[in-house]
Amino acid sequence: MKAIQFHQAGGPEVLRYDEVPVPEIGPGEVLVRVYAAGINPPDWYLREGLKVMPAEMRPALEYPLTPGTDMSGVVEAVAADVTEFAAGDEVFGMLRFPGFDGRTYAEYVAAPASDLARKPAGIDHVQAAGAPMAVLTAWQYLVDLGHDVPSPFTGQVHQSVPITPGMTLLVNGAAGGVGHFAVQLAKWKGARVIAVASGRHEQFLRKLGADEFIDYTTTRAADVAGDVDLVIDTVGGPDSSRFLTVLKHGGTMLPVFFAHYDPDETARLGISVSNIQVRSSGSQLAEIGRLFDEGKLQVGVDSTYPLSEARTAHTRAAQGHIQGKIVLTVVS
Ligand SMILES: NC(=O)c1ccc[n+]([C@@H]2O[C@H](COP(=O)([O-])OP(=O)(O)OC[C@H]3O[C@@H](n4cnc5c(N)ncnc54)[C@H](OP(=O)(O)O)[C@@H]3O)[C@@H](O)[C@H]2O)c1
Repeated sequence: MKAIQFHQAGGPEVLRYDEVPVPEIGPGEVLVRVYAAGINPPDWYLREGLKVMPAEMRPALEYPLTPGTDMSGVVEAVAADVTEFAAGDEVFGMLRFPGFDGRTYAEYVAAPASDLARKPAGIDHVQAAGAPMAVLTAWQYLVDLGHDVPSPFTGQVHQSVPITPGMTLLVNGAAGGVGHFAVQLAKWKGARVIAVASGRHEQFLRKLGADEFIDYTTTRAADVAGDVDLVIDTVGGPDSSRFLTVLKHGGTMLPVFFAHYDPDETARLGISVSNIQVRSSGSQLAEIGRLFDEGKLQVGVDSTYPLSEARTAHTRAAQGHIQGKIVLTVVS
């Protein structure tokens, strides 16, 4: 079969479209014919040799590696102990995360059955492949963590703040993969949503339900927003604490990427900070799948590229300003 591999860390140019054996399945696994594979930041972090991770958290890498955690496809075969799926089922999932051996940039993948759910009938393989990591991240932050594993970044188990009608949520990085699902899940729960993104995404985000839009290229959120119950910040970085002042006393800050807050400042402002590392979950995807089927959630597709053009897709990702998801098409 064909798969994307890289034999050394580097830029998009290290990605090669190679001939490799079809993977064998072990107990609890399903062989899936991949129709589409979603692209997520961990894919390019891996390609770059995981430089983004603190050195003490960085696993040793053995090349060649095939990137990818997310995919949608059709079950080709199942292990003898797998009863929940059968050949011919359409499935989607985020495979083996946290971990870097999902290997979904390929024509076939061996997938743990527990990481899969049936593909919602109302969306196609491209949309389904775009969803798993981004929607699971938003779900595990905002709706239900679904496990009691402490965050490796804080050592604490995240407790979701129940979103109730009338609450105000601010989503920073609202147009990206995680952000556009956070906007929709907050609306589904009845919150008022303030979306922060660059101006080009305003119409996209208003269509997804954003009540207010702040273009961060012209306006500082802290100058125009306040009394917010919950901030989910998918951008992070050294300047993350600029959002603390939009929160009300008793509010919650949810950093999705590495961020730093002064504990004295958050204590003085009465703000809780909590984060998670997203984990694979077929059962949560089955629950979320019903929202896709009911039209309550949509997948924004930024762009698609054939599997053989994974390099171009990663080059697109590196340009930033992603609206929804970038997806590789494998069977069209
Ligand atoms: N904790 C976890 O388990 C977990 C899980 C998934 C992802 N993540 C992390 O979360 C981050 C986001 O992931 P993603 O998949 O959503 O990424 P993404 O699809 O690349 O989206 C990032 C978005 O941020 C926007 N953005 C960039 N700079 C911004 C700024 N200064 N202010 C506001 N928006 C800005 C971009 O568009 P515009 O600039 O045009 O608005 C883009 O839409 C990544 O760093 C990823 O590693 C963490």
